[in-house]
Amino acid sequence: MVLSLLQAVVTYVSLLWFVRVTDAMPDPTQREMLMRQEASLQTGGRVILTPAEQKMDAYLHQLKEQEISVAQFLPAIHFFKAKPLIEKSSIFKLLQKMPKGAALHIHKSTLVSAEWLVKNVTYRPNCYICFTWDNSARFFFSDRQPFPRWDCFYWQLLETLRAKIGDPTKFDNSLMQHLTLFTEDPDREYPNQDVVWEKFEKAFIAAAGLITYAPVLRDYFYKGLEELLRDNIMYLELRSGLSRTYELDGTIHDKVWTLKIVQEVVEKFKADHPDFLGARIIISVNRALGVSEVKAAVKEAVQLQKDFPDVVAGFDMVGREDSGRSLWYFREALSLPTELGVTLPYFFHAGETDDDGTDVDQNILDALLFNTSRIGHGYALAHHPLAKELSRRRNVAVELCPISNQVLKLVSDLRNHPATVLMSEGHPLVISSDDPSMFGTTGLSYDFYEAFVGIGGLKANLGTLKELAANSIRYSSLPAHLKETGLALWQRQWDAFIVANS
Ligand SMILES: *[C@@H]1O[C@H](CO)[C@@H](O)[C@H](O)[C@H]1NC(C)=O
Ligand SMILES: *[C@@H]1O[C@H](CO)[C@@H](O)[C@H](O)[C@H]1NC(C)=O
Ligand SMILES: [Zn+2]
Repeated sequence: MVLSLLQAVVTYVSLLWFVRVTDAMPDPTQREMLMRQEASLQTGGRVILTPAEQKMDAYLHQLKEQEISVAQFLPAIHFFKAKPLIEKSSIFKLLQKMPKGAALHIHKSTLVSAEWLVKNVTYRPNCYICFTWDNSARFFFSDRQPFPRWDCFYWQLLETLRAKIGDPTKFDNSLMQHLTLFTEDPDREYPNQDVVWEKFEKAFIAAAGLITYAPVLRDYFYKGLEELLRDNIMYLELRSGLSRTYELDGTIHDKVWTLKIVQEVVEKFKADHPDFLGARIIISVNRALGVSEVKAAVKEAVQLQKDFPDVVAGFDMVGREDSGRSLWYFREALSLPTELGVTLPYFFHAGETDDDGTDVDQNILDALLFNTSRIGHGYALAHHPLAKELSRRRNVAVELCPISNQVLKLVSDLRNHPATVLMSEGHPLVISSDDPSMFGTTGLSYDFYEAFVGIGGLKANLGTLKELAANSIRYSSLPAHLKETGLALWQRQWDAFIVANS
């Protein structure tokens, strides 16, 4: 009884309140102004579109409304399931044609599709395979029977093995499974982060034996640039450990040799494709190493950058952050360049974690304290307000790789990706693909789709896309005059894209 009386009073009072609010209804003009002001803060919110661009923007908006209203919203489901459906999307097809600028966060071992590795590389003569006790594969090219190793005892010539096996297509598919994470049933196969990272690391090791074979390395790198160009990308910054490269007779080449090959291939590719701007290497070492090893690697990187200033962009630490060592752990090694009075630009992976509050979670702040040029992933940035402010003030862009974050299980529905916040407030951002061969993608179009439709939502528009693409040149490691050349070249491609599609 008392309760219902109370309810009645509450209802009466709230009704009164409602009436008063209606009396003092917010000024619609002011509301409109605030909405416009907020929209102008987002990535691309201040880009002024030409009439032709406005037309395409309206069309894109309409397409997006359609895709959002269908039963299965693609960025909400696992990429491995969404992929064939994304390929049918009109937005995706437009994104493929769009000049996207640069790919600034890709790892060398995952640059070229697993399909090419299997169908092309493993069919070359003298290719041996061996299966480890934990059913991982190793490949090795040799002019004689390879010696047993601790992890791999029985090497078989692939040509012989294929001849014995009845169904080569099935066999090739099984080989591909060793080189990629792609699978039809990701939820069952990868129940948690540990399982998916274990498979991920195994696949890296499996690919190494194929890629570090000298004759393959050249073709691999050229092929990688081709795949990017086909997706309308004009420049690449590749994370690479510059592992030693081997020949059929067992000769080993050092890092300088590998860098020269990279340089040669890039020059050849540019000569063959004048619209391609180039590629640079970010030398990467694993965060599982010790301080003294990283010190040596930093010194070596300083030297290599001095000797190959056009190819070497800088330095990074790679490997799973959650199980690896923090940047702060390596502080002595990472301070070396400053101590020596030299510069070595850093491009740190940081905040690729959901372990809020751990040592690893401090990597973002530490990356900034070490004057990083960009932040790889920065998934954790949204809940580090101070680091976020620093990163914005210093113009340190976040390299957003949505598919990677989803497949490696930081987020499942990409509408919930923390970068929604970064995009809404126009934080410096670029889009990249991290490990395309692992996720079954090529180029950047798939990641652009997820970022544009899923993370950006209905409010992300053509201005957003234009700014993201231009950002990739702006936040690259290129010297100022090449950035200018690159931006001018990109602008020409962009204008042609608008003309051809409006
Ligand atoms: C493998 O790739 C190389 C370089 O791209 C090409 O020249 C060769 O024809 C390819 N071989 C096969 C079997 O596809
Ligand atoms: C970072 O840059 C600031 C300002 O240029 C400089 O004072 C500082 O020594 C740098 N820190 C490192 C670790 O390189
Ligand atoms: Zn990465």
